[in-house]
Amino acid sequence: MLCIDLSGKKALVTGSTRGIGRAIAEFLAKAGAQVVITGRDEKRAQEVAKSISSNAIGIGMDLSDLQSIRAGYEAVEKEVGSVDILVNNAGITKDKLFLRMTLEDWEEVLRVNLTGTYLITSLAVKGMLKKRWGRIINISSVVGFIGNVGQVNYSSTKSALIGFTKSLAKELASRNITVNAIAPGFIETDMTASLSEEIKKEYLRNIPLQRFGTPEDIAGMVAFLCSPMADYITGEIIHINGGMF
Ligand code: NAI
Repeated sequence: MLCIDLSGKKALVTGSTRGIGRAIAEFLAKAGAQVVITGRDEKRAQEVAKSISSNAIGIGMDLSDLQSIRAGYEAVEKEVGSVDILVNNAGITKDKLFLRMTLEDWEEVLRVNLTGTYLITSLAVKGMLKKRWGRIINISSVVGFIGNVGQVNYSSTKSALIGFTKSLAKELASRNITVNAIAPGFIETDMTASLSEEIKKEYLRNIPLQRFGTPEDIAGMVAFLCSPMADYITGEIIHINGGMF
């Protein structure tokens, strides 16, 4: 049981059928929030919702597709009403050395990580403005701060989320809506599972706490940022990386 009470709040987590997003959804549900699980596959989102809480629902939402985002958010409003908490978690990588990167590789990553985040935020924020309460949390990355070989597209989006967070925080503060970002380091999920053992060893050498992070290491901070304990925190970037940066 988390000692954070979010009962009465509705939270939407993008890309929450697995990995960090799923752990965030689980923590928010444990804290009492009604959680909306979203992902490209609606059936999968519904299955995950069912496994998390009887108070969770699953909705299909492909963040690379404007129509899907609009239709998905319409369905959310119909089923639970406007959300109070939005966690922009969905993100993809399409790693390639810059000289081999195509315009398509560039645009695909920007479309999901950045434009998708902008679009769902612009829909979700309307209800928060009316309620004069809202919590928006963007999942950036340590790579947005230190860069990484093969990730010019991905790291550009993760740095951009910092500007997005800081500017939006200033615009929405007077309406009691806080906007913060979390920049995870190396977290063990499907996204990092395909990296070679050699690369993982190299990363580990640079992590003072000597272990990779878990999705739960990130989820706890999200729950905290939604709680009354964090009411006075906005425009902030929280680094969770075991000390590597
Ligand atoms: P993951 O690949 O396990 O999960 C990503 C989630 O986003 C999945 O649920 C996936 O279905 C969803 N997604 C992908 N494309 C989508 C689309 N078009 N529409 C809707 N949902 C979509 O990755 P992980 O590790 O859980 O990552 C979650 C977030 O954390 C991402 O934004 C990632 O960039 C960020 N992050 C992850 C780190 C790590 O080491 N795993 C480190 C730093 C940041």
